Amino acid sequence: MAIKKESKQIISLATSHLRQGKLVAVMTETVYGLAVDASNCSAIKALYKIKKRPAINPLIIHINSIEMAEKIAHFNEEAKTLASIFWPGPLTLILKKKKSANLSTIATSGLDTVGIRMPSSRVFLDLISSFGKPIAAPSANLSGYISSTRANHVEECFGKKIELIIDSKSSKFGLESTIINLSDKNFKIERIGVIDSEIIFKKAKIKIKSESKKSKTKIIAPGQLMKHYSPKTPIRLNAKKASQNEAFLVFGNKFPDSSNSCLNLSKKGNLDEAAFNLFDFLRKLDKLDKDCIAISAIPKTGLGKVINEKLKRANLNE
Ligand code: TXA
Ligand code: MG
Repeated sequence: MAIKKESKQIISLATSHLRQGKLVAVMTETVYGLAVDASNCSAIKALYKIKKRPAINPLIIHINSIEMAEKIAHFNEEAKTLASIFWPGPLTLILKKKKSANLSTIATSGLDTVGIRMPSSRVFLDLISSFGKPIAAPSANLSGYISSTRANHVEECFGKKIELIIDSKSSKFGLESTIINLSDKNFKIERIGVIDSEIIFKKAKIKIKSESKKSKTKIIAPGQLMKHYSPKTPIRLNAKKASQNEAFLVFGNKFPDSSNSCLNLSKKGNLDEAAFNLFDFLRKLDKLDKDCIAISAIPKTGLGKVINEKLKRANLNE
């Protein structure tokens, strides 16, 4: 395993690794992904093993053109509209899979649907162009642990187990893509993210049920049920202050300045900045080996909703 700075040569090297069924970590605008040939069963098996990912949790397939996407899935009118407005970008569409799609059935956990996304990070688009085929890529973290937004996070998770980590600095958003299920008439958000149902309605005039309203419907995204984004250290939410044996993750200007055991997601109270820092700061505080990470309240507006959702999931009991 090696961390190498992004360059043309490294994209070529990564391409040959993918052709040989090896794994390569690469930055997307959301989080780092662990890229693998979406048609190679044994490579995908190895990926599930390395991530300790349950087989029932399907992967997102990354493409760099609508043509490539249409070889994999049936695009209804709404899918075409959303793809034309939001791709490339942090939006995954779940659609009916085409029988002719050349995808490993393990990658889609045997479902008749597939999650597809066109990332906007240049490095990932260049890798797909160079490879010429769809790339499956889950977030580059051990299943259940905090996602990776930097190359060193990926290294901390996997050490020598993956062939290459392409270092392209930090992911722009720091939160995973929004997942929308368009595979039946009941359109719904499976995972909230930077693109929310209001933006979708404003730009595309398409109504999507928000995640919170779907509790009684069948959950198709198995990954959504599980404890996730969790540091090894227990966390305590809505904390006003931290005790001596606790690390402290705070938001806004009412808190003490950052120190070794206290990190401020955004002193000026900017939720975009907080999202960008969230996974990096959780990892930093986790390394301190304190009894607990106390986390101050974070407003439940805008991206704050997504941040709170991640923290709630991190705090679930298994
Ligand atoms: O931003 C992102 O989406 C990142 C970057 C690397 O692209 N990827 C990512 O992948 O977050 P992962 O594997 O960590 O999360 C994918 C989620 C899982 O919760 C999975 O259950 C859901 O997508 N998913 C994938 N295919 C699905 C399908 N056919 N039906 C329902 N859910 C699906
Ligand atoms: Mg993930």
